[in-house]
Amino acid sequence: MNNFEFKNPTKIIFGKEAIKKLENEIPNDAKVLLLYGGGSIKKNGVYEQVKTALSNFNVVEFGGIPANPEYDTLIKALTLIKDEKITYLLAVGGGSVIDGTKFLSAAALFNGATPWDILTQKIRTEKGMPFGTVLTLPATGSEMNSGAVITRAETKEKLAMGGPGLFPEFSILDPQVIASIPRRQLANGLTDAFTHVLEQYMTYPVGALLQDRFAESILHTLLEVAPKVLKNPSNYQAAANFMWSCTMALNGLIQKGVPNDWAVHAMGHELTALFGIDHARTLAIIVPSHYKYNFEAKKEKLAQYAERVWQITEGSIDDKAYAAIEKTVNFFHELGIDTKLSDYTIDYQGTAEEIAKRFTDRGWLALGEHQDITPEKVEKIVKMAY
Ligand code: NZQ
Ligand code: ZN
Repeated sequence: MNNFEFKNPTKIIFGKEAIKKLENEIPNDAKVLLLYGGGSIKKNGVYEQVKTALSNFNVVEFGGIPANPEYDTLIKALTLIKDEKITYLLAVGGGSVIDGTKFLSAAALFNGATPWDILTQKIRTEKGMPFGTVLTLPATGSEMNSGAVITRAETKEKLAMGGPGLFPEFSILDPQVIASIPRRQLANGLTDAFTHVLEQYMTYPVGALLQDRFAESILHTLLEVAPKVLKNPSNYQAAANFMWSCTMALNGLIQKGVPNDWAVHAMGHELTALFGIDHARTLAIIVPSHYKYNFEAKKEKLAQYAERVWQITEGSIDDKAYAAIEKTVNFFHELGIDTKLSDYTIDYQGTAEEIAKRFTDRGWLALGEHQDITPEKVEKIVKMAY
């Protein structure tokens, strides 16, 4: 097992009617900016629950944060934070609203020339404006981690940021919010969380027995609840297990003491930036070709995954490893998620070269758990995903 340090300060408040507990978590004298997305919270009753819980607070609102939170929109919210002298941020939404709020938490206390520098210069936020979240869509784990991904449509960029100052102070997880999520977003959430586990697991063995079994247990749980959640998102037991699995998939726990990959996300983010494809779907496009291209480096863990998650016990390590990739692709297809770039766009020619060039320009020359995924390899992997 590798050395590690682990600290996660986010308080989780989980369960039915948990939104009522909001008022206990925010300082009484706070001036709160309530941030939300395109309006789903006004249709499903979450907005009313939040407003009721905040009835004794001084609250300003900012709605309209789009999926793949857009820099230009967030800059408008930043102006509001300064004009209104906001002291506390509350994100009510999915990963996009929470990530946008993390950017604002960092930008509100940032003294540099332009807040975009936080993303391009990879400035880690040690201290941000305090914020909490009410999660409405299980998927990203953003509710219990310190990372965010921000999009800039003008330049077709999508870049990550983070730092120890960007953990939410608290996150409220009421699985009842899942009842109103459209099927497409449920499938996205399942796929994103599943791939988060793979990014931290599908590397090479280091004898981290517990981390491997944590990871496998999350995969098992997601596979078990996926059909139930899709069939009936009001099934509370299934929804609760889905929600907690997504949070646990990316709150830092399973990645400690083990190698991490994250090359799938690096390539996937470019597909969203270039084509606007939903985040989770970009991962399903890249996963099969990434694992096939890096088969030799990953086959021991692929075979372990085959045995323990898919119960594939016959054949050689290579046979099992290959079968596991096929099973994963089938799972994505069963969710209704296509796994080829050409399923999403007819303009895919040149994409691999463009992504490789972007990585070269940014100095991203060595991705993956072995730090050996060069832009040349990225080009080949993306081409295999056409
Ligand atoms: O905007 P509204 O109207 O709220 O609608 C949203 C949005 O259209 C809707 N939705 C959310 N909760 C709902 C609901 N509809 C009905 N009922 C509900 N209860 O779902 C749509 C998608 O929401 P979004 O927040 O964009 O989805 P998700 O949670 O998948 O977040 C994706 C973003 O997170 C980033 C992605 O790159 C992408 O930008 N990620 C963040 C990570 C992190 N911070 O750790 C890690 C991930 O790998 C990912 O990169
Ligand atoms: Zn993801």
